[in-house]
Amino acid sequence: MTTFHVLTLFPEMVENGLNTSILGRAREKGLLRFHTVNIRDYTADKHRKVDDYPYGGGAGMLMQAQPVFDAHRAVLEEIRGRRGGEAFPQGPVRTVYLTPQGRPFTQAMARELAGEEELIFLCGHYEGIDERVLDEVVTDRVSIGDYVLTGGELAAMVMIDAVSRLVPGVLGNDESAQTESFHRDLLEYPQYSRPEVWHGKGVPQVLLTGDHRKIRAWRLAESEKLTGQLRPDLYDRYLQKRQVVGRLSRRKRRNIHMMELLERGLGEVLYAEGENVLLAGPGKLYMADAGSLEEAERMLESGFGASGPARGWELCSPSPFVKEVLVQRWGGQVLMECVQACYTRREPLPVRHRDIRVLGEEWLGELQKRYSLAGERYLRERLAKGGVFGAFLEGRLAGFIGLHEEGSMGMLWVDEDCRRRGIGASLEAWLINRLLERGETPYGQIEAGNLGSIRLQERLGLYLAEGSVWWVEDSRGMDG
Ligand code: ADE
Repeated sequence: MTTFHVLTLFPEMVENGLNTSILGRAREKGLLRFHTVNIRDYTADKHRKVDDYPYGGGAGMLMQAQPVFDAHRAVLEEIRGRRGGEAFPQGPVRTVYLTPQGRPFTQAMARELAGEEELIFLCGHYEGIDERVLDEVVTDRVSIGDYVLTGGELAAMVMIDAVSRLVPGVLGNDESAQTESFHRDLLEYPQYSRPEVWHGKGVPQVLLTGDHRKIRAWRLAESEKLTGQLRPDLYDRYLQKRQVVGRLSRRKRRNIHMMELLERGLGEVLYAEGENVLLAGPGKLYMADAGSLEEAERMLESGFGASGPARGWELCSPSPFVKEVLVQRWGGQVLMECVQACYTRREPLPVRHRDIRVLGEEWLGELQKRYSLAGERYLRERLAKGGVFGAFLEGRLAGFIGLHEEGSMGMLWVDEDCRRRGIGASLEAWLINRLLERGETPYGQIEAGNLGSIRLQERLGLYLAEGSVWWVEDSRGMDG
């Protein structure tokens, strides 16, 4: 459940805008919560005034610090009251101030904010807000474009709309959020629905063939053409990613996780210099490769920038040099050593057990009973995204497999009394086929020493990479 708090002088405007259509339905389903707070209710002025003249003169009025501060504090108290018993991450609650002077809002920012459970939006009016209160409460200043609105409300609603549709479950069909504009730095291809001929215009022939590979290729070509024409800036970034993927593909087994992160539109390039590559993935996840200690050091220094990686970071790397620098310089600790396996053929695999289904959130309890390597929040999120698949024997859940947030196959589990019947192999083969249909290269990471699972990968025809990949995490833990 994500809660959006909006501090505004016009709460009814925000409520009317957010309670209709998809967002209204998501609210009714309990996926989203909207909480508006009228800043005027917190003024200490007996005439309910919230604005005053700016010192030094100039046009217009400014919103004063006191009512904004008290309204913000009331929201923090509401959050604390509601989540009192929970171990809610410490530290400031993300507070976004909408202003034309802010950082430009992007899909990547929307994706990042969709990971927060509480978000506060502060809407200004008149000529702005007293700087002193902004300094105290705001964590992010954001602009929705290079134009000036009369107030922050419409901008907040734009942001809330874009963030909401990335919250698991809001869109229903999760794949639609994965394949659309900006997900691969490309604009979306044109789409057509019935009738087949309208105003004398037909539908492109290839869409009627049922050949999914050809259709995908046509759509990609259309997307590239459109983006090159309309958004050369996006197209350049896309070409840069393609170039990095090309370079990584020279050592495909070693680098498949990075290639797939970029190909599936889940990652950004922070640094790319020869074989030295640093990528930012979803949330606080990074991936990197480097050829020497010196290069690893230079890359992490330059790629993370002055503020360093986000607190609570995790990084996955096949390079012992990257691992070493993370531990020595960046306060990292090694979480896991894995072997990487990828399926590079195009042919689907036979699946013996037929009863395999996508599991919904109602399976959370059953998963938790069996699988302890991931926490409740992670499992719930994977279930909500349609990323966990169960095998059933005589109507009963016998095992499952999942897709991790960065795209690898994992979480493979088969109940004790159902083992040695090929259920694990069926689950993985089924998931491989599903990924192949989406045009992806299936891969997984198996904890070093898990010989049973490594043998299964070989039996299914996956290739193992030489050497290990290490997962290193921030030893300081999450925000605090
Ligand atoms: N407030 C006024 N104009 C704005 C803009 N372009 N973006 C965000 N907030 C605003």
